Amino acid sequence: MRFAVFASGNGSNFEAILKAVQRNKISAELVCLFSDKSTSYAVQRAKDNGVPYFILEKESKQTKEEYETKLVYLMQKEKVDCIVLAGYMKILGKTFLTAYPNRVINIHPSLLPHFPGKHGIKDAFDRGVKKTGITIHQVDDGIDTGPIIFQKEIETKDFKTLEELEEKIHELEHKYYPIVIEEFVRELMTE
Ligand code: GRF
Repeated sequence: MRFAVFASGNGSNFEAILKAVQRNKISAELVCLFSDKSTSYAVQRAKDNGVPYFILEKESKQTKEEYETKLVYLMQKEKVDCIVLAGYMKILGKTFLTAYPNRVINIHPSLLPHFPGKHGIKDAFDRGVKKTGITIHQVDDGIDTGPIIFQKEIETKDFKTLEELEEKIHELEHKYYPIVIEEFVRELMTE
């Protein structure tokens, strides 16, 4: 089983996944990092760690379908079997998801369906909810929708500031995403 990580930003989850692969905690090959942003720090992490990476920035005149057709071609050329999104900021559409049905997962920093979108941690903190957490889910063409595979919840009262909560959420992500990825690839292997 060969997988790619898609990231647009910092890439701390990408690095946690990479470490898990290096420690043989994930029984699939990390083929490459893909980013839609050349400036993303995830790309720097790939460079620093000798992980192959690909960057495809969407041109303004390009349609989503055209962009994703290129992306599918790239992934198929690299013989990628499944995709792990880790802070990938584009919404995948039908063109990509038809090529990789039930083979894309995502991590989100809230207890979905609550607080989807870009600011899951802050939105939950500002609302003053009792519990928040992380969600790992199959990807469909909605924003943070798709069947939930795993959730871990925490009590927000333990965190006085947004920064403290963010730190805890990221710690949970780095701990649990590799474990769930391992389950995900193992299940695909039995198909
Ligand atoms: C994570 O909080 C993840 O849940 C969300 O985007 C963030 C990515 O962080 N989808 P990083 O780039 O892995 O540090």
